[in-house]
Amino acid sequence: MKQEVLVGLSERQKQLPCKYFYDAHGSQLFEKICSQPEYYLSRTELAILEEEAAAMIAWFHQGSLIELGSGASLKVRHLLAALPGRGRDITYVPVDLCEPALRRAALALTGLYPELALHGIIADYTEGWKFLEETASPRLITFLGSNIGNFRPDICKDFLTGLRSRMNPIDRLIVGFDLVKEKSVLEAAYNDSHGVTEAFNRNILTVINRELGGDFDPAAFEHDAFYNEAAQQIEMHLSASRPMTVSITGIPMRVSLATGETIFTENCRKFTRESVADLARQTAFKLVRWWSDSRQWFALAEFLPADNGGC
Ligand SMILES: C[S@@+](CC[C@H](N)C(=O)[O-])C[C@H]1O[C@@H](n2cnc3c(N)ncnc32)[C@H](O)[C@@H]1O
Repeated sequence: MKQEVLVGLSERQKQLPCKYFYDAHGSQLFEKICSQPEYYLSRTELAILEEEAAAMIAWFHQGSLIELGSGASLKVRHLLAALPGRGRDITYVPVDLCEPALRRAALALTGLYPELALHGIIADYTEGWKFLEETASPRLITFLGSNIGNFRPDICKDFLTGLRSRMNPIDRLIVGFDLVKEKSVLEAAYNDSHGVTEAFNRNILTVINRELGGDFDPAAFEHDAFYNEAAQQIEMHLSASRPMTVSITGIPMRVSLATGETIFTENCRKFTRESVADLARQTAFKLVRWWSDSRQWFALAEFLPADNGGC
């Protein structure tokens, strides 16, 4: 963390890795974001899952259901409900770096599915795939919530290529993609009228203060989220409302910001079916199935290892 924060805040466009949003409070704020009327992403993805879960997992009777960045593990409930025996013959493996969120989710899920074998893993999925060795094949790996959109294009390719290299030919991957759409709809989703996304954005400074001895004043930053049409991504920033010098004693470093200078906190890329198919091709996968909603706002895509021979 020290190294990432040091490098990010030393760059010309200051930045922080978005994974640091997710302490216990940040995870709760994210769950609240999901219920905001403007935040169509979760609702739309949930509706697709609800409708298509049976088709998605018809092939999957035993093995490991691995969820990367599982958060509250709400969406997986649709998949579990559609499994024969409500998941009696599989092991559910939620992977998340936020331990309190994972524990809370696991407790709720085992209450609903008492026969489910659950093996939670606290890990950062950007730091290697060793944890996959603890799981049995066949594997159904899910990466939902458009988390994939948080990666820069080059990192996204490395991530998928790395994951692909650890998968067996019989394993499958289902990824949630937020799709390109009208700017007004996208910008509203990241600027909810109750200010929950704003609080979520500022929370990253509270995390840095607590974990690294920083003295950021989160109230001195404004939430700024806009759609960059050329790059097809929402960019979320924290903009300094006055000149300041912040000290982070745990690194140690001092950071100066001018009024209006920003810290880039999150990148949320938007996709098309073509860009998803290209991404699959470039990372040794093939895109085999695609489920979307009637407005084509969100999609779930099934990726198979390209050498699997087809389904
Ligand atoms: C946008 S939320 C999505 C949660 C859930 N998948 C959903 O769709 O509602 C992102 C989740 O991924 C986790 N996360 C973010 N970056 C991560 C990383 N590098 N490694 C592991 N978990 C991560 C966060 O803690 C959070 O629970």
